[in-house]
Amino acid sequence: MDVMIKKTRSLGFVLVFLAIFVSTSAQNIKPVMVNVDKPLTEIQPTMWGIFFEDINFGADGGIYAELIKNRSFEFYNPRMGWSIGMEDNDSSHFQIVNRKHNYPGNPRFARIRVDEPQKPVRLTNSGFRGIGVKAGVDYHFSIMASVKENSKLTIRAELISSGGDKLGETLIQPNGNWKKYQATFKSSATDLKAHINIWFEGQGVIDVDMISLFPGDTWKNRPGGLRADLVQLLADLKPGFLRFPGGCIVEGHDLSVRYQWKKTIGNVEDRELIVNRWNTEFAHRLTPDYYQTFGLGFFEYFQLAEDIGAQPLPIINCGMACQFNTAEVVPLDQLDPYIQDALDLIEFANGPETSEWGKIRTQMGHPGSFNLKYLGIGNEQWGPQYFERYILFEKAIKARYPEITLVSSAGPQPDGDLFNYASGALKNTRAEIVDEHYYRPPVWFRENAARYDNYDRKGFKIFAGEYAAQSVGTASPLNKNNWDCALSEAAFMTGLERNADVVVMSSYAPLFAHVDGWQWTPDLIWFNNLTSFGTPNYYVQKLFSVNRGDYVLAMQRNNLPLTGEDGIYASAALDKSANEVILKIVNTSDKVKNQEIVLNTTRKVLPKARYIVLQNNKSDGMNSIENPKAISPVEKEFTLKGRKLNATLEPYSLSVYRIKLK
Ligand code: AHR
Repeated sequence: MDVMIKKTRSLGFVLVFLAIFVSTSAQNIKPVMVNVDKPLTEIQPTMWGIFFEDINFGADGGIYAELIKNRSFEFYNPRMGWSIGMEDNDSSHFQIVNRKHNYPGNPRFARIRVDEPQKPVRLTNSGFRGIGVKAGVDYHFSIMASVKENSKLTIRAELISSGGDKLGETLIQPNGNWKKYQATFKSSATDLKAHINIWFEGQGVIDVDMISLFPGDTWKNRPGGLRADLVQLLADLKPGFLRFPGGCIVEGHDLSVRYQWKKTIGNVEDRELIVNRWNTEFAHRLTPDYYQTFGLGFFEYFQLAEDIGAQPLPIINCGMACQFNTAEVVPLDQLDPYIQDALDLIEFANGPETSEWGKIRTQMGHPGSFNLKYLGIGNEQWGPQYFERYILFEKAIKARYPEITLVSSAGPQPDGDLFNYASGALKNTRAEIVDEHYYRPPVWFRENAARYDNYDRKGFKIFAGEYAAQSVGTASPLNKNNWDCALSEAAFMTGLERNADVVVMSSYAPLFAHVDGWQWTPDLIWFNNLTSFGTPNYYVQKLFSVNRGDYVLAMQRNNLPLTGEDGIYASAALDKSANEVILKIVNTSDKVKNQEIVLNTTRKVLPKARYIVLQNNKSDGMNSIENPKAISPVEKEFTLKGRKLNATLEPYSLSVYRIKLK
């Protein structure tokens, strides 16, 4: 017993001693100094952007608002997505006809035969994992049809809920040769997984193609346009640039299915679809019904960039297929058509209305230039085979368009042999901006917050083009968009901002994922057929982007930048037009940190200021369709004493302070 009391007493002394020690050392935390009057370097408007790739149903089944899957019967299995409501299952009522030789862009159509009025034929399409419809919203149904001689047929399209109720319908009376018919109806209810029946009633034979259903409430109400909620989430990020269309889909599994921008413009029905290379990429997430219809093509990408105020950054194939797949290359002496595609793309974006490609842009409804300034040569290419191709692109593009800034690849890894080879090889080119990719564990992001502090200031600039903390492993299907990952990315991003003289662009990857149709996780924005939500990583991106600032300010403790000591990471910027100092502080520790911050300035500092906090106590905390804003920013106010701010940094938090100057 005696021994017990003695032990308890001595434990008490130790605790008291520890408490005194901890509080004294807390008091000894040096103030953070922010040098307001000597801005260091400009932060480019392109600093925080977005990277769009058609992965995870990002385009077809996602932002491209088409609700019918395989609308033109061009999938590898042309019946995929369609079922026929015939009891005898006689395929002659639903034939696929191929006219490849006279219509290579859209060779197949369906031929429907109705034998007698009592036996109408029904085609059913259940969209991309169901058709999401909303009560009261208009739905625009369209179909191309050619009615055979002596046939009298009516087309009746009806929307059916997951419970079997009719939600709306419309009738079309086709006649004569190929024509496009359109009709609009409203849905009487909201349903996440409705389907559409298309009835052919009467008697005779009819050919049909491009069977389409679009909601009326698209972004800017554009017919055949984009899903408004998803574009809004992008617009809210105020992105500096939009990189598109990939990613690995630029390269293709082999060169025959590489991305060719010229096939993605003009009339939608003439855009030749190809398989999406994410279709069979992962055996654990096979998506055999994933194709690229190119309804979202290069014109629409440029338009999207313009709509959301982002610089367009297209990436073109450089004569190389994905090196993780076939690694097929085009011989150097046959590279010209690829280079010509790049030159023509610049003309399509910027050329006068009278130029060959500028004229097509004008015909598509955009006479003015898209103001293209950047062009990426290849996606995630590596090795000598890349650089020998890259220099030929560079030579031809710079000769004709010296004003275009080129983005080159540093390969798939941020370190190791491929990266080191690329870094050396790039020095022998006139590389301007180099695209580095980092799919790494959360700890890597925290440990690399100072990655660019000692980078070569005389060489090329950096585009942190694809990054995301992987909670389990690169592209593991178990990866989560959790708070640990998001906070680690925030820590890393303070390092990008602090080095804005080197890092001129950055973007999270991938951007979108359909909850029922994804191949790769983590992703910035998740959605189902009706709603969408931003992950904690999304809110980190948003806080950095909407609080960008124009100039980096030195922010130091003990004359050193804050790169993780004590779990604290920070950067500071000056917003010239708002006349505000912006501090971004990440506390990755599990403790509240009280930190004095002193603004070193001769200017008057207004006492009332605001800060925005993104915080969660659980490292595995996430957002979801059911709870989309579980982790989202909260705005608060605080008062400064003169030029001093006593910041209370909550555990596991990103805080953005905005302080007004006079
Ligand atoms: O973002 C997913 C893929 O990761 C991209 O397509 C590719 O560039 C990288 O390997």
